[in-house]
Amino acid sequence: MSSYIVLLGPPGVGKGTQAELLAEATGLPHISSGDLFRENIKDQTELGKLAQSFINKGELVPDDVTISMIRDRLSRPDCKDGALLDGFPRTTVQADSLASLLAEFDGEVNSVPYITASEATLIERLGGRWTCKAQSHVFNEKHNPPQRTGVCDFDGSQLYQREDDRAETVKRRIQVYFTQTAPLIAYYRERGLLSEIDGTQLIEKVTADLLKVLRK
Ligand code: AP5
Ligand code: MG
Repeated sequence: MSSYIVLLGPPGVGKGTQAELLAEATGLPHISSGDLFRENIKDQTELGKLAQSFINKGELVPDDVTISMIRDRLSRPDCKDGALLDGFPRTTVQADSLASLLAEFDGEVNSVPYITASEATLIERLGGRWTCKAQSHVFNEKHNPPQRTGVCDFDGSQLYQREDDRAETVKRRIQVYFTQTAPLIAYYRERGLLSEIDGTQLIEKVTADLLKVLRK
């Protein structure tokens, strides 16, 4: 099985949902740049204060701070045999840095599943998303509801709606994705690493397709 996996795709396509399921199936750690920023925001660290000003506007956090945060996380022992990267890289500068960083650990990006859905689907999903306060588990009031309204099925913590899931911010995040992140589709396709996955299917079917790609 591939070890360093980059889950690519627009906001709301299901990267976090799938990364959690793949982490269970593969034993690899789930590294979400968005979740790391949100932990820093919760703890009011300097990084958190800086990141918050970008995240709340739907803009990307500058490359240098993002890369340094991911470098720290990937240097921990649980990532030595691989990781599921969700939300990183998001620019070609970040992708080049990831390649150099992994080379330091004798690793490389092994597979880049690119999950797709229409813009209308993304907007609809993000409008109904509820996220857990403790560990960022995600639910959807229509497609994947929790057993008890407002409570996480996995750890019992409270569910909230992310500040950047407001309609105007979602619009901006999708624009930013198309201008700054979509170039990574060609970047990884040229390197023979990209596999397209239909993200509009049922959650279980998307997971099955992802596992097929990763076991190739
Ligand atoms: P981040 O947290 O990474 O947000 P994102 O990329 O916008 O992605 P989302 O978390 O919104 O969506 P997802 O694909 O994980 O979907 P999910 O599984 O939740 O980043 C937030 C911000 O941090 C960025 O805007 C930026 O400011 C900053 N940032 C992060 N990384 C950065 C970086 N590398 N560089 C610079 N800045 C960075 O699913 C969405 C909803 O759909 C849920 O409700 C779920 O239940 C539902 N759903 C999932 N799958 C299905 C399905 N198959 N069918 C029906 N519903 C489904
Ligand atoms: Mg996510």
